[in-house]
Order: sequence, then C-alpha cells, then structure tokens
Amino acid sequence: MTSSPATTFEDVLAEVADVEGWMTDDQARKLWNAARSVPENGRIVEIGSFRGRSLIVLASAATRGVEIVSIDPHAGNDRGPQEIEGFVDQAVEDHDVFNRNLSEAGVADRVTHLRKFSDDALGDVTGPIDVLYIDGAHRFAPARSDIVKWGAKVADGGDLLIHDSFSSVGVTLALVTTLFFGSDFRYVGRAQSMTHYRRHRMGPRERLRNGLRQLAELPWFARNVLIKVLIVAKLGSLTRFLGHDEPTWPY
Ligand SMILES: C[S@@+](CC[C@H](N)C(=O)[O-])C[C@H]1O[C@@H](n2cnc3c(N)ncnc32)[C@H](O)[C@@H]1O
Repeated sequence: MTSSPATTFEDVLAEVADVEGWMTDDQARKLWNAARSVPENGRIVEIGSFRGRSLIVLASAATRGVEIVSIDPHAGNDRGPQEIEGFVDQAVEDHDVFNRNLSEAGVADRVTHLRKFSDDALGDVTGPIDVLYIDGAHRFAPARSDIVKWGAKVADGGDLLIHDSFSSVGVTLALVTTLFFGSDFRYVGRAQSMTHYRRHRMGPRERLRNGLRQLAELPWFARNVLIKVLIVAKLGSLTRFLGHDEPTWPY
C-alpha cells in the first residue's frame, strides 16, 4: 500500500482493488476523468462513501487545492444492496475501515468527511460544486432529495454522476421525476449504472431530445429489475441468459 496518492488511473485501480464497494473499472474511469477536470480551488462532493472505494479515485485524481467533501453518516442504513436498516455494527466497522483505507491510499488529508445524512449536511457546503457524485440512500425519497437539493448546488458546466441509475427502482424513479424532462442537466451517458449529467440550461427542443435519450435506457432498466427478481427467487443461474454471470446485484 502507498502513502501518497496514486498519480495514474492504473495505479488507482490497483489501490482500490481490495477496497470493498460497488464500482466497476468503467465507472472508476468516469470518476477519474470528472475529478481530473476540476480546476484548482474547485469542489468535489460525494454522497455515500461506504469504505472509500469511489472516494479514493476522486481524491487521487483531483489536483491539490480542490476541496473534496465526503458525506456519509456510517449509521447502518441504506448500506448496500438489500441492506436498508439495522446494520449499525457493520457501519461502525465501515467507518473504521473507511478511515484506514483513505490513509493507506494517501488521501486522508485531502478529504473532509461529514459524518451526517446528506439532508443534514446541506448547510455545510456553501459554494458551487464542480463534481457531485450521488451514491447514498437509493430509496425514492432520499435519492430524489439528493438530486434536487444537492443538484441545485452544481455549478454551470459542472458534472453530476449518479450510481445505480437504471438498476435501482428508487433511483430510477427519482431520475424520471427530476432529470428526465428537466431543463438544467444534459444527459451525457452512462458506464453501466453510473449516469453522467452536465449542468447546462436547455431550451424546449433540446429538453425533449434529452428526455428521449434517457427514456431509451428503460429497456436496460427492465433487464436489471428482472435480474434482481431472478436472484431473489433463487433463480440466479438464469441471469446468464441476460448477460449477467455473477450472483451479485447488477450495478
Ligand atoms: C452503496 S454505498 C456507497 C458505495 C461507495 N460509493 C463505493 O464506491 O463503494 C451507500 C452508502 O451511503 C450511505 N448513506 C446511506 N444513507 C445516506 C444519506 N442519507 N446520506 C449520505 N450517505 C448515506 C451508507 O452509509 C453507505 O455507506
């Protein structure tokens, strides 16, 4: 393990290889590129850091001088797939492992961790955000709240990345009711379930095109829901017919 941050994408992938969490290599690349583009004195905010897997990528990619804020209560709720309530003991361990992982990756001094629920942390971040990564509670109400309240803080031209889009029902409903036909965030694309939006004011035609591009992702969402149903029904082996060959939730 290193004590100074990784300086290349390959090195950071190696650094997080043993850090538990949910992030594919393609998703790490999106985070890396977004964080790399933030100017000195800019700001990155991550909602939902768990044990630091994605945060280490963001913090290693960012130029010195960029403020990096991680918001995670480590309270045992909405911890991961099917872990909605009652994981308090595991969360205590998450917090310790999070701190250890950040230190080992050499990024602990770059990150301000707010051990709070995202709604309670709104007043702690006052300036504009250049990169906002949302991966906190995936239920509809808190996911929607993160998009609306934290999304409002993203600077013009800034990036908004959202994990478990078109895989989690709650997150997807939150997208449909906020970003699908909204006027402020252009849909850039996705890496598996990580969607990427850029803040940019759109007129009616562009808004319609933007909505249609997101609607076109719904078949992929239906496939992911079906995979989850099969896994819950203990028919996980059938998911290979949908191109999913692991017993894990698709993300
Ligand atoms: C799916 S994990 C995040 C995974 C992480 N981004 C990674 O790369 O491994 C979700 C995290 O969100 C946190 N969380 C749950 N509710 C939250 C909330 N309201 N605000 C901020 N974080 C929350 C949980 O404590 C948990 O650590």
